[in-house]
Amino acid sequence: MRKIAVLLLAMAGQFTAFSQPVPSIVGRGKQIDPYHYSVVKNAMFSKAAVSSAHPLASMVGAAIMQEGGNAFDAAIATQLTLAVVYPGAGNLGGGGFLLGRKSNGELIGIDYREAAPAKASRDMYLDKNGNPQLNLSQTGHLASGIPGTVAGLFATLPYAKLPFARLVQPAIDLAEKGFVIGEREASSLNSTRESFVKYSTRTPAFVKEGKWKAGDTLIQKDLAATLRRMQKDGAPGFYEGETAKLIVEEMQRGNGIISLDDLKNYTAKLRSPLEFDYRGHRIISFAPPSSGGVIIAQLLKIMEKYPLKEYGFQTPKTVQLMIEAERRAYADRAEHLGDPDFYKVPVKTMLSDAYLAQRMSDYVPDKAGVSAAVKPGMIKESEETTHLSVVDAAGNMVAVTTTLNGGYGSRTVVGGAGFLLNNEMDDFSAKPGVPNMYGALGGEANAIVPGKRMLSSMTPTLVLKNNKPYLVIGTPGGTTIPTSVFQGIVNVIDFNMNADDAINKPKFHHQWQPDEVDVEKSFDPETKKQLQAMGYKIVERNGIGRTEAIRLLPNGKRETAADKRGDDSVAGF
Ligand code: DON
Repeated sequence: MRKIAVLLLAMAGQFTAFSQPVPSIVGRGKQIDPYHYSVVKNAMFSKAAVSSAHPLASMVGAAIMQEGGNAFDAAIATQLTLAVVYPGAGNLGGGGFLLGRKSNGELIGIDYREAAPAKASRDMYLDKNGNPQLNLSQTGHLASGIPGTVAGLFATLPYAKLPFARLVQPAIDLAEKGFVIGEREASSLNSTRESFVKYSTRTPAFVKEGKWKAGDTLIQKDLAATLRRMQKDGAPGFYEGETAKLIVEEMQRGNGIISLDDLKNYTAKLRSPLEFDYRGHRIISFAPPSSGGVIIAQLLKIMEKYPLKEYGFQTPKTVQLMIEAERRAYADRAEHLGDPDFYKVPVKTMLSDAYLAQRMSDYVPDKAGVSAAVKPGMIKESEETTHLSVVDAAGNMVAVTTTLNGGYGSRTVVGGAGFLLNNEMDDFSAKPGVPNMYGALGGEANAIVPGKRMLSSMTPTLVLKNNKPYLVIGTPGGTTIPTSVFQGIVNVIDFNMNADDAINKPKFHHQWQPDEVDVEKSFDPETKKQLQAMGYKIVERNGIGRTEAIRLLPNGKRETAADKRGDDSVAGF
Protein backbone atom coordinates (compact mmCIF):
# COMPACT_ATOMS: atom_id res chain seq x y z
CA MET A 1 0.00 0.00 0.00
CA ARG A 2 2.76 2.45 0.98
CA LYS A 3 4.43 2.13 -2.37
CA ILE A 4 1.18 2.79 -4.21
CA ALA A 5 0.54 5.82 -2.02
CA VAL A 6 3.83 7.38 -2.97
CA LEU A 7 3.33 6.69 -6.66
CA LEU A 8 -0.17 8.11 -6.67
CA LEU A 9 1.02 11.10 -4.73
CA ALA A 10 3.43 11.90 -7.48
CA MET A 11 0.69 11.69 -10.12
CA ALA A 12 -2.06 13.33 -8.13
CA GLY A 13 -2.72 16.95 -7.29
CA GLN A 14 -0.26 19.11 -5.45
CA PHE A 15 -1.98 22.28 -4.34
CA THR A 16 0.52 25.07 -4.08
CA ALA A 17 0.11 28.79 -3.70
CA PHE A 18 2.15 31.26 -5.63
CA SER A 19 2.26 33.45 -2.53
CA GLN A 20 3.99 33.02 0.83
CA PRO A 21 2.96 30.29 3.26
CA VAL A 22 0.58 31.32 6.05
CA PRO A 23 0.68 30.02 9.60
CA SER A 24 -0.79 26.57 10.16
CA ILE A 25 -4.53 26.51 10.85
CA VAL A 26 -4.38 23.61 13.28
CA GLY A 27 -1.83 23.79 16.04
CA ARG A 28 -0.23 21.42 18.55
CA GLY A 29 2.56 20.41 16.26
CA LYS A 30 0.26 19.15 13.53
CA GLN A 31 0.84 21.67 10.82
CA ILE A 32 -1.85 22.13 8.22
CA ASP A 33 -0.85 24.69 5.66
CA PRO A 34 -3.81 25.62 3.45
CA TYR A 35 -1.43 27.10 0.90
CA HIS A 36 0.62 23.95 0.29
CA TYR A 37 -0.88 20.50 0.55
CA SER A 38 -1.17 17.28 -1.45
CA VAL A 39 -3.62 14.55 -2.23
CA VAL A 40 -2.85 11.18 -0.58
CA LYS A 41 -4.85 8.38 -2.17
CA ASN A 42 -4.26 5.62 0.34
CA ALA A 43 -2.30 4.79 3.44
CA MET A 44 -2.16 2.40 6.36
CA PHE A 45 -2.73 4.06 9.75
CA SER A 46 -2.43 2.38 13.11
CA LYS A 47 -4.86 4.45 15.16
CA ALA A 48 -7.22 6.87 13.48
CA ALA A 49 -8.15 7.61 9.88
CA VAL A 50 -10.30 9.86 7.72
CA SER A 51 -11.09 9.59 4.03
CA SER A 52 -12.95 12.48 2.43
CA ALA A 53 -13.32 14.48 -0.77
CA HIS A 54 -10.63 17.04 0.08
CA PRO A 55 -7.11 16.79 1.55
CA LEU A 56 -7.62 19.74 3.95
CA ALA A 57 -10.86 18.27 5.29
CA SER A 58 -9.26 14.87 5.95
CA MET A 59 -6.23 16.54 7.58
CA VAL A 60 -8.46 18.62 9.88
CA GLY A 61 -10.43 15.49 10.89
CA ALA A 62 -7.23 13.60 11.70
CA ALA A 63 -5.75 16.55 13.63
CA ILE A 64 -8.91 16.82 15.73
CA MET A 65 -8.57 13.14 16.69
CA GLN A 66 -4.90 13.67 17.50
CA GLU A 67 -5.99 16.45 19.81
CA GLY A 68 -8.20 14.08 21.79
CA GLY A 69 -11.39 14.10 19.74
CA ASN A 70 -13.10 10.88 18.69
CA ALA A 71 -14.55 9.83 15.32
CA PHE A 72 -17.68 11.93 15.93
CA ASP A 73 -15.58 15.05 16.61
CA ALA A 74 -13.67 14.32 13.41
CA ALA A 75 -16.89 13.85 11.43
CA ILE A 76 -18.18 17.24 12.62
CA ALA A 77 -14.91 19.08 11.93
CA THR A 78 -14.42 17.38 8.57
CA GLN A 79 -17.93 18.33 7.42
CA LEU A 80 -17.45 21.93 8.53
CA THR A 81 -14.16 22.05 6.66
CA LEU A 82 -15.73 20.56 3.54
CA ALA A 83 -18.36 23.33 3.70
CA VAL A 84 -15.46 25.75 3.15
CA VAL A 85 -12.97 23.93 0.93
CA TYR A 86 -15.36 21.89 -1.20
CA PRO A 87 -18.25 24.24 -1.97
CA GLY A 88 -19.69 22.04 -4.73
CA ALA A 89 -20.93 19.52 -2.20
CA GLY A 90 -19.63 20.27 1.29
CA ASN A 91 -22.26 22.45 2.82
CA LEU A 92 -24.13 24.32 5.49
CA GLY A 93 -27.14 24.78 3.21
CA GLY A 94 -27.76 21.10 2.41
CA GLY A 95 -28.47 17.95 4.36
CA GLY A 96 -27.25 14.43 4.97
CA PHE A 97 -27.20 11.25 6.97
CA LEU A 98 -24.74 10.15 9.66
CA LEU A 99 -24.35 6.56 10.66
CA GLY A 100 -22.14 5.80 13.63
CA ARG A 101 -21.16 2.84 15.76
CA LYS A 102 -19.60 3.49 19.13
CA SER A 103 -16.91 1.13 20.29
CA ASN A 104 -19.40 -0.29 22.85
CA GLY A 105 -21.62 -1.40 19.95
CA GLU A 106 -24.24 1.36 20.21
CA LEU A 107 -25.57 2.37 16.79
CA ILE A 108 -26.46 5.95 15.92
CA GLY A 109 -28.42 7.11 12.87
CA ILE A 110 -28.92 10.85 12.41
CA ASP A 111 -31.24 12.03 9.61
CA TYR A 112 -30.64 15.65 8.72
CA ARG A 113 -32.17 15.47 5.30
CA GLU A 114 -33.73 18.72 4.06
CA ALA A 115 -37.51 19.07 4.39
CA ALA A 116 -40.12 20.71 2.17
CA PRO A 117 -41.01 24.22 3.39
CA ALA A 118 -44.51 24.87 4.81
CA LYS A 119 -45.47 26.71 1.64
CA ALA A 120 -44.47 23.79 -0.63
CA SER A 121 -47.20 21.84 -2.41
CA ARG A 122 -47.52 18.67 -4.47
CA ASP A 123 -47.79 20.39 -7.85
CA MET A 124 -45.49 23.33 -7.22
CA TYR A 125 -43.24 22.40 -10.14
CA LEU A 126 -46.08 21.94 -12.69
CA ASP A 127 -47.32 24.72 -14.94
CA LYS A 128 -51.03 25.37 -15.41
CA ASN A 129 -51.23 22.63 -18.03
CA GLY A 130 -49.67 20.12 -15.66
CA ASN A 131 -46.31 20.11 -17.44
CA PRO A 132 -43.23 19.79 -15.23
CA GLN A 133 -40.92 22.82 -14.96
CA LEU A 134 -37.86 21.08 -13.63
CA ASN A 135 -35.71 24.18 -13.99
CA LEU A 136 -37.53 25.37 -10.86
CA SER A 137 -36.81 22.25 -8.80
CA GLN A 138 -33.18 22.19 -9.99
CA THR A 139 -31.91 25.77 -9.82
CA GLY A 140 -32.67 28.98 -7.99
CA HIS A 141 -34.57 29.86 -4.86
CA LEU A 142 -37.55 27.53 -5.23
CA ALA A 143 -35.31 24.45 -5.55
CA SER A 144 -34.20 24.45 -1.91
CA GLY A 145 -35.50 22.36 0.92
CA ILE A 146 -35.02 23.61 4.49
CA PRO A 147 -31.31 23.04 5.22
CA GLY A 148 -30.58 20.23 7.68
CA THR A 149 -26.80 20.07 7.95
CA VAL A 150 -26.27 22.42 10.88
CA ALA A 151 -28.98 20.65 12.92
CA GLY A 152 -27.22 17.38 12.04
CA LEU A 153 -23.85 18.63 13.28
CA PHE A 154 -25.36 19.68 16.60
CA ALA A 155 -27.26 16.38 16.88
CA THR A 156 -23.87 14.65 16.51
CA LEU A 157 -22.23 16.78 19.22
CA PRO A 158 -23.46 14.72 22.23
CA TYR A 159 -21.37 11.80 20.90
CA ALA A 160 -18.27 13.96 20.49
CA LYS A 161 -15.73 14.97 23.14
CA LEU A 162 -14.49 18.43 22.21
CA PRO A 163 -16.53 21.65 22.32
CA PHE A 164 -18.16 22.82 19.08
CA ALA A 165 -16.20 26.07 19.32
CA ARG A 166 -13.00 24.06 18.80
CA LEU A 167 -14.40 21.86 16.02
CA VAL A 168 -15.50 24.82 13.91
CA GLN A 169 -12.30 26.86 14.31
CA PRO A 170 -10.35 25.31 11.40
CA ALA A 171 -13.31 25.99 9.07
CA ILE A 172 -13.46 29.60 10.25
CA ASP A 173 -9.73 30.05 9.67
CA LEU A 174 -9.92 28.49 6.22
CA ALA A 175 -12.87 30.68 5.23
CA GLU A 176 -11.29 33.82 6.64
CA LYS A 177 -7.66 33.41 5.57
CA GLY A 178 -8.45 31.44 2.45
CA PHE A 179 -6.97 28.28 0.99
CA VAL A 180 -5.45 27.37 -2.30
CA ILE A 181 -7.68 25.72 -4.86
CA GLY A 182 -6.67 23.03 -7.31
CA GLU A 183 -7.29 22.54 -11.01
CA ARG A 184 -10.56 20.67 -10.53
CA GLU A 185 -12.14 23.30 -8.27
CA ALA A 186 -10.92 26.17 -10.47
CA SER A 187 -12.45 24.65 -13.55
CA SER A 188 -15.80 23.86 -11.94
CA LEU A 189 -16.04 27.35 -10.39
CA ASN A 190 -15.37 28.78 -13.85
CA SER A 191 -17.97 26.63 -15.54
CA THR A 192 -20.59 27.44 -12.87
CA ARG A 193 -19.87 31.20 -12.86
CA GLU A 194 -22.83 32.11 -15.04
CA SER A 195 -25.35 30.29 -12.86
CA PHE A 196 -23.89 31.76 -9.63
CA VAL A 197 -24.58 35.19 -11.13
CA LYS A 198 -27.99 34.23 -12.47
CA TYR A 199 -29.36 32.52 -9.36
CA SER A 200 -27.81 34.61 -6.56
CA THR A 201 -29.08 38.10 -5.82
CA ARG A 202 -25.70 39.26 -4.43
CA THR A 203 -22.37 38.47 -6.06
CA PRO A 204 -20.80 35.57 -4.11
CA ALA A 205 -17.13 34.91 -3.33
CA PHE A 206 -17.14 32.19 -6.02
CA VAL A 207 -17.39 34.81 -8.75
CA LYS A 208 -14.27 36.78 -9.49
CA GLU A 209 -13.04 38.97 -12.25
CA GLY A 210 -11.36 36.78 -14.80
CA LYS A 211 -10.96 33.05 -14.52
CA TRP A 212 -9.99 30.97 -11.50
CA LYS A 213 -6.83 28.95 -11.89
CA ALA A 214 -5.07 26.31 -9.81
CA GLY A 215 -3.00 28.06 -7.14
CA ASP A 216 -5.52 30.89 -6.55
CA THR A 217 -6.67 31.55 -3.01
CA LEU A 218 -10.41 31.38 -2.22
CA ILE A 219 -11.39 33.64 0.69
CA GLN A 220 -14.98 33.51 2.04
CA LYS A 221 -15.49 36.29 4.63
CA ASP A 222 -19.31 36.05 4.75
CA LEU A 223 -19.09 32.31 5.32
CA ALA A 224 -16.55 32.88 8.11
CA ALA A 225 -19.02 35.25 9.80
CA THR A 226 -21.82 32.66 9.48
CA LEU A 227 -19.57 30.01 11.07
CA ARG A 228 -18.69 32.43 13.87
CA ARG A 229 -22.38 32.92 14.66
CA MET A 230 -22.69 29.14 15.01
CA GLN A 231 -19.57 29.12 17.18
CA LYS A 232 -21.10 31.72 19.48
CA ASP A 233 -24.77 30.68 19.59
CA GLY A 234 -24.86 27.02 18.53
CA ALA A 235 -27.65 25.80 16.20
CA PRO A 236 -29.79 28.90 16.88
CA GLY A 237 -26.83 30.86 15.50
CA PHE A 238 -27.92 29.43 12.13
CA TYR A 239 -31.64 28.68 12.37
CA GLU A 240 -32.52 31.93 14.15
CA GLY A 241 -31.08 35.44 14.38
CA GLU A 242 -28.86 37.01 11.72
CA THR A 243 -28.26 33.94 9.53
CA ALA A 244 -31.96 32.99 9.42
CA LYS A 245 -32.77 36.59 8.56
CA LEU A 246 -30.23 36.57 5.71
CA ILE A 247 -31.69 33.31 4.34
CA VAL A 248 -35.23 34.67 4.39
CA GLU A 249 -34.17 37.97 2.83
CA GLU A 250 -32.46 36.00 0.05
CA MET A 251 -35.69 34.01 -0.41
CA GLN A 252 -37.73 37.19 -0.64
CA ARG A 253 -35.41 38.73 -3.23
CA GLY A 254 -35.58 35.58 -5.36
CA ASN A 255 -39.20 34.43 -4.87
CA GLY A 256 -38.28 31.48 -2.67
CA ILE A 257 -40.55 30.12 0.06
CA ILE A 258 -38.37 29.17 3.04
CA SER A 259 -39.60 31.15 6.06
CA LEU A 260 -38.25 32.02 9.52
CA ASP A 261 -40.66 29.45 10.99
CA ASP A 262 -39.45 26.74 8.60
CA LEU A 263 -35.91 27.34 9.83
CA LYS A 264 -36.77 27.57 13.50
CA ASN A 265 -38.88 24.39 13.41
CA TYR A 266 -36.37 22.21 11.57
CA THR A 267 -34.97 19.32 13.62
CA ALA A 268 -32.62 16.46 12.87
CA LYS A 269 -34.18 13.06 13.60
CA LEU A 270 -32.66 9.95 15.15
CA ARG A 271 -33.42 6.89 13.00
CA SER A 272 -32.82 3.23 13.79
CA PRO A 273 -30.22 1.97 11.34
CA LEU A 274 -31.15 -0.86 9.00
CA GLU A 275 -29.24 -4.05 9.81
CA PHE A 276 -28.88 -7.35 7.98
CA ASP A 277 -26.38 -10.15 7.42
CA TYR A 278 -24.38 -10.90 4.30
CA ARG A 279 -22.18 -14.00 4.11
CA GLY A 280 -21.38 -13.90 7.81
CA HIS A 281 -20.89 -10.12 7.98
CA ARG A 282 -23.22 -7.66 9.69
CA ILE A 283 -24.15 -4.79 7.37
CA ILE A 284 -25.50 -1.58 8.91
CA SER A 285 -26.89 1.12 6.65
CA PHE A 286 -29.34 4.00 6.53
CA ALA A 287 -33.11 3.49 6.64
CA PRO A 288 -35.71 5.67 4.85
CA PRO A 289 -35.97 8.54 4.04
CA SER A 290 -32.88 7.25 2.30
CA SER A 291 -33.49 4.45 -0.15
CA GLY A 292 -29.84 3.44 0.12
CA GLY A 293 -30.00 0.91 2.95
CA VAL A 294 -33.09 -0.83 1.56
CA ILE A 295 -31.59 -1.07 -1.93
CA ILE A 296 -28.27 -2.54 -0.81
CA ALA A 297 -30.10 -4.92 1.54
CA GLN A 298 -32.27 -6.19 -1.34
CA LEU A 299 -29.25 -6.50 -3.63
CA LEU A 300 -26.98 -8.29 -1.16
CA LYS A 301 -29.74 -10.61 0.05
CA ILE A 302 -30.35 -11.62 -3.56
CA MET A 303 -26.59 -12.10 -4.16
CA GLU A 304 -26.29 -14.34 -1.13
CA LYS A 305 -28.20 -17.06 -3.00
CA TYR A 306 -25.54 -17.22 -5.73
CA PRO A 307 -21.85 -18.22 -5.58
CA LEU A 308 -20.40 -14.94 -6.89
CA LYS A 309 -16.84 -15.93 -6.07
CA GLU A 310 -17.19 -19.00 -8.26
CA TYR A 311 -18.71 -16.90 -11.06
CA GLY A 312 -15.66 -14.57 -10.91
CA PHE A 313 -15.10 -10.81 -10.63
CA GLN A 314 -17.00 -8.86 -13.28
CA THR A 315 -17.46 -11.87 -15.51
CA PRO A 316 -20.56 -11.61 -17.73
CA LYS A 317 -22.36 -14.06 -15.43
CA THR A 318 -21.68 -12.01 -12.28
CA VAL A 319 -22.40 -8.65 -13.87
CA GLN A 320 -25.63 -9.86 -15.48
CA LEU A 321 -26.95 -11.17 -12.17
CA MET A 322 -26.06 -7.91 -10.42
CA ILE A 323 -27.74 -5.86 -13.17
CA GLU A 324 -30.96 -7.87 -12.96
CA ALA A 325 -31.06 -7.49 -9.18
CA GLU A 326 -30.49 -3.72 -9.56
CA ARG A 327 -33.28 -3.46 -12.15
CA ARG A 328 -35.76 -4.93 -9.66
CA ALA A 329 -34.52 -3.01 -6.59
CA TYR A 330 -34.75 0.35 -8.39
CA ALA A 331 -38.27 -0.47 -9.66
CA ASP A 332 -39.27 -0.98 -6.03
CA ARG A 333 -37.56 2.27 -5.04
CA ALA A 334 -39.71 4.24 -7.47
CA GLU A 335 -42.94 2.82 -6.10
CA HIS A 336 -42.49 2.06 -2.45
CA LEU A 337 -39.90 4.37 -0.90
CA GLY A 338 -40.36 7.79 0.67
CA ASP A 339 -40.26 9.58 4.02
CA PRO A 340 -41.59 7.03 6.57
CA ASP A 341 -43.10 9.84 8.65
CA PHE A 342 -45.47 10.59 5.76
CA TYR A 343 -45.83 7.30 3.92
CA LYS A 344 -45.96 3.74 5.11
CA VAL A 345 -42.79 2.24 3.67
CA PRO A 346 -43.03 -1.58 3.51
CA VAL A 347 -39.40 -2.24 4.48
CA LYS A 348 -40.05 -5.56 6.21
CA THR A 349 -41.78 -7.10 3.21
CA MET A 350 -39.26 -5.68 0.77
CA LEU A 351 -36.44 -7.44 2.62
CA SER A 352 -38.18 -10.75 3.25
CA ASP A 353 -36.70 -13.86 1.64
CA ALA A 354 -40.04 -14.87 0.13
CA TYR A 355 -40.55 -11.48 -1.50
CA LEU A 356 -37.01 -11.34 -2.91
CA ALA A 357 -37.26 -14.90 -4.26
CA GLN A 358 -40.49 -13.95 -5.98
CA ARG A 359 -38.84 -10.81 -7.43
CA MET A 360 -36.10 -12.93 -9.01
CA SER A 361 -38.47 -15.68 -10.21
CA ASP A 362 -38.49 -14.33 -13.78
CA TYR A 363 -34.71 -13.87 -13.90
CA VAL A 364 -33.15 -15.67 -16.87
CA PRO A 365 -29.36 -16.10 -16.80
CA ASP A 366 -27.70 -15.12 -20.10
CA LYS A 367 -30.64 -13.00 -21.26
CA ALA A 368 -31.30 -9.31 -20.72
CA GLY A 369 -34.45 -8.55 -18.75
CA VAL A 370 -36.79 -5.80 -19.96
CA SER A 371 -37.67 -2.99 -17.56
CA ALA A 372 -41.07 -2.44 -19.16
CA ALA A 373 -41.95 -5.98 -18.09
CA VAL A 374 -40.44 -5.66 -14.61
CA LYS A 375 -42.92 -3.72 -12.52
CA PRO A 376 -42.39 -2.78 -8.88
CA GLY A 377 -43.30 -5.72 -6.62
CA MET A 378 -46.87 -5.85 -5.38
CA ILE A 379 -46.89 -5.20 -1.69
CA LYS A 380 -49.91 -5.17 0.50
CA GLU A 381 -49.06 -4.30 4.09
CA SER A 382 -50.79 -2.43 6.85
CA GLU A 383 -23.41 14.83 -9.56
CA GLU A 384 -22.75 16.58 -5.98
CA THR A 385 -22.76 14.91 -2.80
CA THR A 386 -19.85 13.94 -0.65
CA HIS A 387 -19.02 11.13 1.71
CA LEU A 388 -16.56 10.80 4.57
CA SER A 389 -15.48 7.73 6.48
CA VAL A 390 -13.84 7.96 9.91
CA VAL A 391 -12.41 5.45 12.38
CA ASP A 392 -10.73 6.46 15.64
CA ALA A 393 -8.25 4.77 17.97
CA ALA A 394 -11.02 3.35 20.19
CA GLY A 395 -12.76 1.74 17.20
CA ASN A 396 -15.68 4.17 16.89
CA MET A 397 -16.80 4.21 13.26
CA VAL A 398 -18.61 7.05 11.50
CA ALA A 399 -19.93 7.26 7.94
CA VAL A 400 -21.46 10.50 6.72
CA THR A 401 -22.93 11.28 3.32
CA THR A 402 -23.97 14.89 2.84
CA THR A 403 -25.15 16.88 -0.14
CA LEU A 404 -26.48 20.00 -1.80
CA ASN A 405 -27.84 17.58 -4.46
CA GLY A 406 -26.44 18.87 -7.77
CA GLY A 407 -22.96 20.44 -7.97
CA TYR A 408 -23.13 23.72 -6.02
CA GLY A 409 -26.82 22.92 -5.30
CA SER A 410 -29.36 25.51 -6.43
CA ARG A 411 -26.47 27.87 -7.34
CA THR A 412 -28.07 30.38 -4.99
CA VAL A 413 -25.64 31.78 -2.42
CA VAL A 414 -27.33 33.38 0.59
CA GLY A 415 -26.45 37.07 0.27
CA GLY A 416 -24.26 38.20 3.20
CA ALA A 417 -24.07 34.65 4.62
CA GLY A 418 -21.77 33.16 1.99
CA PHE A 419 -23.12 29.63 1.66
CA LEU A 420 -24.93 27.80 -1.12
CA LEU A 421 -28.45 26.47 -0.76
CA ASN A 422 -29.38 22.99 -1.89
CA ASN A 423 -31.58 21.99 -4.85
CA GLU A 424 -32.85 18.95 -2.98
CA MET A 425 -36.55 19.58 -3.85
CA ASP A 426 -35.70 17.84 -7.15
CA ASP A 427 -35.35 14.58 -5.22
CA PHE A 428 -39.11 14.61 -4.66
CA SER A 429 -41.25 13.26 -7.47
CA ALA A 430 -42.54 16.42 -9.21
CA LYS A 431 -45.07 14.27 -11.09
CA PRO A 432 -45.47 10.48 -11.44
CA GLY A 433 -43.56 9.25 -14.47
CA VAL A 434 -41.37 12.37 -14.77
CA PRO A 435 -37.70 11.55 -14.13
CA ASN A 436 -35.69 13.86 -11.87
CA MET A 437 -32.12 14.97 -12.61
CA TYR A 438 -30.82 11.45 -11.89
CA GLY A 439 -33.51 9.80 -14.02
CA ALA A 440 -35.28 8.57 -10.86
CA LEU A 441 -39.03 8.03 -11.01
CA GLY A 442 -41.46 8.24 -8.14
CA GLY A 443 -45.10 8.54 -7.21
CA GLU A 444 -47.28 8.88 -4.16
CA ALA A 445 -44.62 7.63 -1.73
CA ASN A 446 -42.32 10.51 -2.69
CA ALA A 447 -44.83 13.25 -3.54
CA ILE A 448 -44.23 16.75 -2.12
CA VAL A 449 -45.90 17.50 1.24
CA PRO A 450 -44.91 20.37 3.59
CA GLY A 451 -42.49 19.14 6.22
CA LYS A 452 -41.79 15.87 4.37
CA ARG A 453 -38.22 14.80 3.55
CA MET A 454 -37.47 13.95 -0.07
CA LEU A 455 -36.32 10.40 -0.84
CA SER A 456 -32.55 10.03 -0.96
CA SER A 457 -30.12 7.44 -2.30
CA MET A 458 -27.36 8.27 0.20
CA THR A 459 -25.94 5.10 1.71
CA PRO A 460 -23.46 5.62 4.56
CA THR A 461 -22.65 2.04 5.55
CA LEU A 462 -20.73 0.12 8.20
CA VAL A 463 -19.74 -3.53 8.08
CA LEU A 464 -18.85 -5.77 11.03
CA LYS A 465 -16.94 -9.03 10.78
CA ASN A 466 -17.12 -11.37 13.76
CA ASN A 467 -19.05 -8.56 15.42
CA LYS A 468 -16.00 -6.28 15.18
CA PRO A 469 -15.57 -3.11 13.09
CA TYR A 470 -14.51 -4.10 9.56
CA LEU A 471 -15.46 -1.53 6.93
CA VAL A 472 -16.71 2.06 6.69
CA ILE A 473 -17.92 2.97 3.21
CA GLY A 474 -20.05 5.45 1.28
CA THR A 475 -20.09 7.67 -1.79
CA PRO A 476 -21.85 10.44 -3.71
CA GLY A 477 -23.43 9.82 -7.11
CA GLY A 478 -27.22 10.34 -6.98
CA THR A 479 -29.06 7.13 -7.85
CA THR A 480 -25.74 5.36 -8.48
CA ILE A 481 -24.88 5.61 -4.76
CA PRO A 482 -26.42 2.28 -3.66
CA THR A 483 -24.84 0.59 -6.69
CA SER A 484 -21.38 1.86 -5.76
CA VAL A 485 -21.72 0.81 -2.12
CA PHE A 486 -23.15 -2.57 -3.18
CA GLN A 487 -20.25 -3.20 -5.56
CA GLY A 488 -17.70 -1.97 -3.02
CA ILE A 489 -19.00 -4.44 -0.42
CA VAL A 490 -19.12 -7.33 -2.91
CA ASN A 491 -15.55 -6.52 -3.97
CA VAL A 492 -14.34 -6.74 -0.37
CA ILE A 493 -16.42 -9.67 0.85
CA ASP A 494 -16.76 -11.86 -2.25
CA PHE A 495 -13.60 -10.96 -4.11
CA ASN A 496 -11.26 -10.36 -1.17
CA MET A 497 -10.07 -6.96 -2.36
CA ASN A 498 -8.32 -4.36 -0.25
CA ALA A 499 -10.02 -1.00 0.29
CA ASP A 500 -8.20 0.72 -2.55
CA ASP A 501 -9.04 -1.91 -5.18
CA ALA A 502 -12.59 -2.30 -3.92
CA ILE A 503 -13.47 1.34 -4.55
CA ASN A 504 -11.37 1.95 -7.65
CA LYS A 505 -12.34 -1.01 -9.83
CA PRO A 506 -14.58 -0.10 -12.79
CA LYS A 507 -18.29 0.14 -12.01
CA PHE A 508 -21.58 -0.49 -13.79
CA HIS A 509 -25.10 0.63 -12.95
CA HIS A 510 -28.70 -0.20 -13.81
CA GLN A 511 -31.64 1.65 -12.26
CA TRP A 512 -34.68 0.03 -13.95
CA GLN A 513 -35.48 3.16 -15.95
CA PRO A 514 -33.94 4.11 -18.30
CA ASP A 515 -33.50 0.48 -19.37
CA GLU A 516 -29.75 0.60 -19.94
CA VAL A 517 -26.53 -0.41 -18.24
CA ASP A 518 -24.17 2.47 -17.53
CA VAL A 519 -20.51 1.44 -17.45
CA GLU A 520 -17.36 3.37 -16.72
CA LYS A 521 -14.93 3.76 -19.61
CA SER A 522 -12.48 1.35 -18.00
CA PHE A 523 -15.08 -1.44 -17.80
CA ASP A 524 -13.83 -4.74 -19.28
CA PRO A 525 -14.51 -4.68 -23.06
CA GLU A 526 -14.97 -8.45 -23.32
CA THR A 527 -17.64 -8.51 -20.59
CA LYS A 528 -19.28 -5.55 -22.28
CA LYS A 529 -19.38 -7.40 -25.61
CA GLN A 530 -20.95 -10.47 -24.06
CA LEU A 531 -23.57 -8.40 -22.23
CA GLN A 532 -24.48 -6.73 -25.51
CA ALA A 533 -24.88 -10.18 -27.07
CA MET A 534 -27.36 -11.06 -24.29
CA GLY A 535 -29.44 -8.02 -25.30
CA TYR A 536 -28.24 -5.27 -22.94
CA LYS A 537 -27.99 -1.68 -24.05
CA ILE A 538 -24.64 -0.46 -22.73
CA VAL A 539 -23.92 3.24 -22.25
CA GLU A 540 -20.42 4.46 -21.43
CA ARG A 541 -20.20 7.29 -18.93
CA ASN A 542 -17.78 9.22 -16.77
CA GLY A 543 -16.84 8.06 -13.30
CA ILE A 544 -19.53 6.52 -11.11
CA GLY A 545 -19.23 7.68 -7.48
CA ARG A 546 -16.32 8.89 -5.37
CA THR A 547 -16.15 6.28 -2.67
CA GLU A 548 -14.21 6.62 0.59
CA ALA A 549 -13.45 3.45 2.51
CA ILE A 550 -11.60 2.36 5.63
CA ARG A 551 -11.05 -1.36 6.25
CA LEU A 552 -9.92 -2.53 9.67
CA LEU A 553 -7.43 -5.37 9.44
CA PRO A 554 -7.03 -8.15 12.06
CA ASN A 555 -3.78 -6.52 13.24
CA GLY A 556 -5.68 -3.32 14.03
CA LYS A 557 -4.35 -1.33 11.07
CA ARG A 558 -6.76 1.04 9.33
CA GLU A 559 -6.42 0.45 5.58
CA THR A 560 -7.65 3.79 4.28
CA ALA A 561 -8.51 4.64 0.68
CA ALA A 562 -9.84 7.65 -1.19
CA ASP A 563 -11.42 7.44 -4.63
CA LYS A 564 -9.17 8.07 -7.62
CA ARG A 565 -12.05 9.81 -9.44
CA GLY A 566 -11.52 13.17 -7.65
CA ASP A 567 -9.17 15.08 -5.32
CA ASP A 568 -10.29 12.72 -2.55
CA SER A 569 -7.61 12.19 0.04
CA VAL A 570 -6.86 10.32 3.27
CA ALA A 571 -5.22 11.37 6.53
CA GLY A 572 -4.57 9.71 9.86
CA PHE A 573 -1.94 8.53 12.30
O1 DON B 1 -29.96 12.33 -1.84
C1 DON B 1 -29.72 11.94 -2.97
O2 DON B 1 -29.90 10.80 -3.34
C2 DON B 1 -29.13 12.91 -3.98
N1 DON B 1 -29.53 14.25 -3.66
C3 DON B 1 -27.65 12.75 -4.00
C4 DON B 1 -26.98 13.62 -5.03
C5 DON B 1 -25.61 13.19 -5.37
O3 DON B 1 -25.12 12.20 -4.90
C6 DON B 1 -24.89 13.99 -6.38
N2 DON B 1 -23.53 13.56 -6.48
N3 DON B 1 -22.87 13.30 -7.36
